[in-house]
Amino acid sequence: MTESTIAIIKSTAPVIKEHGEAITTAMYANLFRVHPEAKAFFKDASEDQYKKLAAMVYAYAANIDNLGALGKGVEKVANIHVNIGVLPEHYPWVGVALLEAITQVLGEAATPEIMDAWKEAFFFLADVFIAKEKEIYAAKA
Ligand code: HEM
Repeated sequence: MTESTIAIIKSTAPVIKEHGEAITTAMYANLFRVHPEAKAFFKDASEDQYKKLAAMVYAYAANIDNLGALGKGVEKVANIHVNIGVLPEHYPWVGVALLEAITQVLGEAATPEIMDAWKEAFFFLADVFIAKEKEIYAAKA
């Protein structure tokens, strides 16, 4: 990730926190509209699932310059993902849905510069999960 991406993400952390639940609620609506087949993954999800995802997106934005702070959280979520069968090809589904949701909720505040930074940051985090999940799948095989 570039320095300017890190600076932009950190500067958007308070806005993401303020609108976190609206963003993740919109994210799920976008995800299920474009990929109805993703609903099967969430069939046993708790009512407050979207709050957990919102909290993690905020934690990520706030800690983007210190990702070690997320370590344990990533490990726990990666194990949950593996148990449900999440695969690398599902990350763009969630990424596109999340970026669309940020644009919907932030409106004009979501400048192209901010959206480019979030695109880069999302796929950076996705790669962290994908690598961790690959390890967990390999250990299970
Ligand atoms: C970087 C992207 C992602 C982040 C930050 C993320 C974050 C999270 C978090 C925080 C949880 C809650 C864990 C808990 O209960 O403590 C979770 C659970 C879950 N995630 Fe993800 N996730 C990501 C990508 C994905 C993808 C690509 C899929 C598949 C489409 C997915 C499907 C799920 C499912 C099905 C659950 C469990 C829901 C339940 O039964 O409660 N996630 N994720």
